[in-house]
Amino acid sequence: MEPLYSIITIFLAISCFQIPKVQAFQAPFHPKDILPLLPDQVSWPIMNYLNSAVDILPSFVGAASSTDTTLQWKGACFYNNTAWMVFHNKSQTEFGGGTLHLKVTNAHSWTCMDLYVFATPFRVTWDYYFLSREHTLEFDEWESKAEYDYVKRKGVAIFLMEAGMLGTLSAFWKVFPLFTNTAWGESSNIAFLEKNMGAKFEQRPQPWVTNISSEDIHSGDFLALSKIRGRWGAFESLEKWVSGSYAGHSAVCLRDSEGKLWVAESGHENEEGEDVIAILSWEEWWDFELTKDDSNPHIALLPLHPDLRAKFNVTAAWEYARSLEGKPYGYHNLIFAWIDTIEQNYPSPLDANLVASVMTVWNQLQPEYAANMWSEALNKRLGTEVLLILLVDISWNSGNK
Ligand SMILES: *[C@@H]1O[C@H](CO)[C@@H](O)[C@H](O)[C@H]1NC(C)=O
Ligand SMILES: *[C@@H]1O[C@H](CO)[C@@H](O)[C@H](O)[C@H]1NC(C)=O
Ligand SMILES: *[C@@H]1O[C@H](CO)[C@@H](O)[C@H](O)[C@H]1NC(C)=O
Ligand SMILES: *[C@@H]1O[C@H](CO)[C@@H](O)[C@H](O)[C@H]1NC(C)=O
Repeated sequence: MEPLYSIITIFLAISCFQIPKVQAFQAPFHPKDILPLLPDQVSWPIMNYLNSAVDILPSFVGAASSTDTTLQWKGACFYNNTAWMVFHNKSQTEFGGGTLHLKVTNAHSWTCMDLYVFATPFRVTWDYYFLSREHTLEFDEWESKAEYDYVKRKGVAIFLMEAGMLGTLSAFWKVFPLFTNTAWGESSNIAFLEKNMGAKFEQRPQPWVTNISSEDIHSGDFLALSKIRGRWGAFESLEKWVSGSYAGHSAVCLRDSEGKLWVAESGHENEEGEDVIAILSWEEWWDFELTKDDSNPHIALLPLHPDLRAKFNVTAAWEYARSLEGKPYGYHNLIFAWIDTIEQNYPSPLDANLVASVMTVWNQLQPEYAANMWSEALNKRLGTEVLLILLVDISWNSGNK
């Protein structure tokens, strides 16, 4: 942050001298323009005073996926903006990379700037512009075929943020990468847990999979999982942090009357892509965890103590599991743990505004997931059907009173 502040300060110092000369052509300097230069403690109260909750959220202006320049919008500072995408292969890699071009013109004052967030489901980056000209943003190499296909099809999403949001952006930067399904996302999760929970991650020697025999597993044995990559990884990181637990997910083993072993767990994706409570055969579950789970799970088997196993009522456990099978995952139960007071719901560095910003961006990229997380949680809370915008408002208000 430091170099940016000083560059802007110098720029501001220079342009202040010029203001009298150019006043006839452009609007004079506006107090909001200098907000990014002030420390968060100072700029936040001013920002809250000047803006409504809606202004403070990143606003989606469009997505650039081709050289077509029809994507135009009006920014907060520059009134005429155009963006287009040029794919290239400078990196000589399988999927190549791309250059996002942004042409920003018609600034409303000499001191204003526009702040942008650029996102794909695999990365997020940001930049700020205060010079009226063409700017470029380089993507040297697409992370994977999935990112390449996404950008070809949907483009890089562009969000405009209020200039006073620099503080939030730097915090946003810490949280958003957690959600990306990349090695970067994974190391971000680990760093996040180390920093905020003091958790230590030490790589085990090989083999990474115990040669476990399903014969040794009994009804009532517990599986504690910790996922550290992708959507589940990020969600679990935040969950571990707010709950103080080192497991983000759990499942229970059950044997049926023929002695066949099953695993009952929530958060299993069914054929329609919904996360539901499911009962899977041990073989299917274990095979998924070993070969298909891209969240890089750490799994611990915690056998039930023999005394407790003797008391464990398998019939009742099966009845309970069957009664829940196929039901929605229950994001509401999880998020309940976070949104449980009128104010100060989020531990630092998360604040309601930041959560709202992340969710706004996330909602644009992967609407089905974001909608699940938030609407399930708050519909349950309020006993009603609410729209995303309303809940963003609620959480924003509650965090900033
Ligand atoms: C906005 O910019 C584009 C591209 O630079 C230009 O073609 C267009 O005429 C401009 N529109 C206005 C209203 O200035
Ligand atoms: C980029 O160049 C490399 C090496 O020449 C080639 O293997 C790859 O297929 C190219 N990728 C694209 C997307 O054109
Ligand atoms: C795992 O256990 C089975 C049966 O006990 C044995 O045949 C196999 O060699 C073991 N595999 C490893 C990698 O130890
Ligand atoms: C086990 O649970 C079943 C079903 O709820 C119940 O009928 C039975 O009495 C329970 N057995 C014991 C020993 O508590």
